Amino acid sequence: MGVLVTGGAGYIGSHMVLYLADRGEKVVVLDNLVTGFDWMVDHRVDFVQGNIADNALVSRLIQDHGIDAVIHFAGSVVVPESVENPLKYYRNNTAATRDLIETCVQNGIKHFIFSSTAAVYGMVGLEPVAEDAVLTPVSPYGRSKLMSEWMLADVAAAHPMTYGVLRYFNVAGADPEMRSGQSTAGATHLIKVAVQTALGLRASMSVFGDDYPTPDGTCVRDYIHVSDLVAAHGILLDHLRAGGESRTMNCGYGRGFSVDEVVSTVKQVTGVDFPVVHGPRRAGDPASIVAGADRIRSMDWEPQFDDLPTIVEMAYKWERYLNTRNDRPAV
Ligand code: UFG
Repeated sequence: MGVLVTGGAGYIGSHMVLYLADRGEKVVVLDNLVTGFDWMVDHRVDFVQGNIADNALVSRLIQDHGIDAVIHFAGSVVVPESVENPLKYYRNNTAATRDLIETCVQNGIKHFIFSSTAAVYGMVGLEPVAEDAVLTPVSPYGRSKLMSEWMLADVAAAHPMTYGVLRYFNVAGADPEMRSGQSTAGATHLIKVAVQTALGLRASMSVFGDDYPTPDGTCVRDYIHVSDLVAAHGILLDHLRAGGESRTMNCGYGRGFSVDEVVSTVKQVTGVDFPVVHGPRRAGDPASIVAGADRIRSMDWEPQFDDLPTIVEMAYKWERYLNTRNDRPAV
């Protein structure tokens, strides 16, 4: 048995690789290094630079490494970019995933786990959103991921393959042993931006909108630690390998924090009172999106880092480490 991890040189994929290597799995990483970094791939696993849509390459990897399961992270993830360049998203996320799934079917892959997103839900209300909610994504990014979810369900109905779809909420934090973390250049995510501001890498940061219908007027999100997130993949993989049926699960803790709460937590954890500007809303932001977490909590999943200060502290430590590297990605 072996696991092919696509996008294993990226933020979440590299943590998946650590999790699998820590439990002694045989792993091969396939990543084109467009946004990932080869130094983020754990040295205990094999790494190949290449394209997930390359049928000959992926077939060879599956055969040479005795792969029974694929965990597919590779893709493009920036919502505003998907609005400006939708075809990039339909190529990288939808078309390439189609080609990868086809190669998997041709090579008898038994289990396929797919990184999806809360963006498949679109604009939701203030309550936690369950997996069976109506799916009305509002961005090409969300649609490109939802189409892949549909493809997987259709393929699993027609071929002997089971799948897991994991819809990520707001992923943050870093490996507790500081072996990997969020390293993407030009990141826009709230916790990353806030810790960079605390470190003085940015002069100030903006809170996008404070007139939302939420308790303090700023947007509410469900921040999940990246190590707890990848552990959910591991548990789902075990479930599928044990003959369990395909599942679609939200990945969040089921509770939300506002932007203002996150910013003050970053100030507390870092001890830096950095400048914050309350600016206008950012286009396309739902007021609140919190995971309905019943399904994930019904699995054998025991989150270790369901604590905002802990998540922030690890994100901060990683950012400090990145800052010591000569090749640190652009802020
Ligand atoms: N925010 C700020 N200032 C910043 C950055 C973010 O106020 O400098 C706010 C945003 O407006 C939003 C919240 O912080 O209200 C969280 O924003 P992020 O950019 O960190 O994350 P999003 O909630 O926009 O996006 C996340 C994932 C996407 C996924 C989406 C689904 O990163 O991949 O959730 O809702 F599509």
